[in-house]
Amino acid sequence: ETPAQEEAKEEAPANDLITVGFSQVGAESDWRVANTNSMKETLSEANGFKLIFADAQQKQENQIKAVRDFISQEVDVIVIAPVTETGWETVLGEAKDAGIPVIIVDRMINVTDQSLYTCWVGSDFYQEGVDAVKWLTEYMNGLGRGSENLNVAVLQGTIGSSAEIGRTKGVRDELSKYSNYKIVLEQTGEFTQAKGQEVMESFLKSGEKIDILIAQNDNMAFGAIDALKAVGKVPAKDVIIVSFDAVKAAFESMIAGDMNVSVECNPLHGPRVAELAKAIMEGKTVEKIQYVEEGVYPAETAAEIMPQRQY
Ligand code: AHR
Repeated sequence: ETPAQEEAKEEAPANDLITVGFSQVGAESDWRVANTNSMKETLSEANGFKLIFADAQQKQENQIKAVRDFISQEVDVIVIAPVTETGWETVLGEAKDAGIPVIIVDRMINVTDQSLYTCWVGSDFYQEGVDAVKWLTEYMNGLGRGSENLNVAVLQGTIGSSAEIGRTKGVRDELSKYSNYKIVLEQTGEFTQAKGQEVMESFLKSGEKIDILIAQNDNMAFGAIDALKAVGKVPAKDVIIVSFDAVKAAFESMIAGDMNVSVECNPLHGPRVAELAKAIMEGKTVEKIQYVEEGVYPAETAAEIMPQRQY
C-alpha cells in the first residue's frame, strides 16, 4: 500500500460518522451545563458522531442562525434545545426542504405542521409543576399549617420557554384547588442565579408577606436563598423553598437546610439523542414524543440520595 492509500484507510471511519449540529440554549444554569456535558460526551467520535455545537446565549435569533449554518454545512441531523416554543416554522421549513431530520430536545416547540420535526424527547414540565404543589400542600399539612392563609411568590424561568409555560400552568392549576394559597408575586428570573437573587430582593422590598417561594429552577432558588439570608430571614423555615431540576448543588443546599424540595428535571439527554439519531440515519421510524422519568426529592431524603446523583 502506498502512504496515500494508508492515509485514506485511516481516514475512512471519519466518513461514517454521523454529523450532528446541536443548537443549545446557553449556559444559564447547572442543569444546562449538565445537559451540554451529556450531549458532548455521548455524541463523540468514539460513539460514531461528529458534533457541531452552537451556544445560543439564551437568544432564539442565535438559534435560527445556527440552524441555517447547519443546513449550509449539510449536517446529517439537526438537534435543537429551543429557547422558546414559538417562532420555528420558517427555519424548520428550510431544514425540511434540505431533507435534514430535526430532533427537538428538552423544551418543546409550538408548530402547526408536526412534520417540521422528526421527534422530541424531554420533560413533562406541566407535571413537574403539579408534583411540586402536591408535595408542598402535603408538607404544609404536615407542619400543621395546611389551612393557614399562605402567600406564594413565584420566580419564573425564561418567559415563553416550555419549562416556564408548563411549570407556571402546573403550579397554578394545582394551587387553584386550595382557596388558602395565593400567588402574590410572580416575575421572571430568567433561570439564572444572579437574576433570581435580584428579583427576590425586589420581592422582599415589596413588603408582601411571603410564606412560600416557588423557584422554577435551582439556580434561581440559590440566588433567592442568598437574598433571604441578606435580610436576616431563614430560608426553608421563614420562607418554604420549592425548586426544580434537582441538580447536585440543590442536594447540598437541602443538606445544609436551605431548601425544602427540588422536583427533578432530567438533563441527561445525550444517550437518548444518540440513539434517536442513529435510528433515524438507519431509516427506522422513531417514537414522535418521548417523556423522561422524573422524581421529587425532599430535603429529608437528600443526604441519602446525594451520592447516587449523576448531575
Ligand atoms: O428547560 C429546562 C430548564 O432550563 C431547566 O429547568 C433550567 O435550569 C434550564 O435553564
